Amino acid sequence: MKITVIGAGNVGATAALRIAEKQLAKEVVLIDIVEGIPQGKALDMYESGPVALFDTRIFGSNDYKDSENSDIILITAGLARKPGMTREDLLMKNATIIKEVTQQVMKYSKNPIIIMVSNPLDVMTHVAHTISGLEKERVIGMAGVLDTARFRSFIAEALDVSMQDINAFVLGGHGDSMVPVVKYTSVAGIPLSELMPKEQIDAIVERTRNGGIEIVNHLKTGSAYYAPAASAVEMIEAIVKDRKRIIPCTTLLTGEYGIDNVFCGVPVKIGKNGIEQILELDLAAEELDALQKSAALVDENCRNLKSLLG
Ligand code: LAC
Repeated sequence: MKITVIGAGNVGATAALRIAEKQLAKEVVLIDIVEGIPQGKALDMYESGPVALFDTRIFGSNDYKDSENSDIILITAGLARKPGMTREDLLMKNATIIKEVTQQVMKYSKNPIIIMVSNPLDVMTHVAHTISGLEKERVIGMAGVLDTARFRSFIAEALDVSMQDINAFVLGGHGDSMVPVVKYTSVAGIPLSELMPKEQIDAIVERTRNGGIEIVNHLKTGSAYYAPAASAVEMIEAIVKDRKRIIPCTTLLTGEYGIDNVFCGVPVKIGKNGIEQILELDLAAEELDALQKSAALVDENCRNLKSLLG
């Protein structure tokens, strides 16, 4: 198993280290355009191997050729948000970067699975899919796992119970229009609505929607990276170990949920072939409506990129 991480910033570097510490690959390549940064960070991580107990070979490079024959490519390149910016503000700049990155990685790997982390997430997944020509099952966006992790952590904190016992789904695009599905949220199988008053659930839903910007406002110079990296690595682990996990990921919908030809976050089964199944939940009318509205926003942004994508 060879995994390439594009972008040696905070998300990319944190993900690379987690992949090694979990021994998910024989080889991890960290690629960035900035000279010295991927090499230095990768070497530093590699030298932690004897203490952190992993044998993964990690190295950094500025040359895409070093990504050749990758099984999985994690794309984290691009600009991150600053306070006052929406994910959409990043649209044109990051689309241009992701187009170039996708063209480069596809020169050297025949049939990789691409996991997208760059924002605006759903649109960047669309860009990578269009440019790569890969089957839709092999181009997956990381958003739902992160949004769900935030939702679960806030619920665990409020109820003072283990994070492990919280099951939840956050669907839709990765943005202010995301849809935390309360009906399918439970604590060890007990519906959340039996454990918490509606106002408290509503407040947690709202905090989840603003989870990204809450971190941006603290950091001021960038956006979140520990939880995003952990979420991407959970998806990688499901693929590497063929675990058939049921988790929310961004995938190309072709009619499911009444949404056609738009990348959107929904529950999927994820294993060695990437997305192996899309699960269609029975949503309440207003949740389905919110999901479709969220997809419409993604679609509109994708249309704005027509000239770039040809
Ligand atoms: C977030 C950004 C990275 O949700 O989209 O933290």
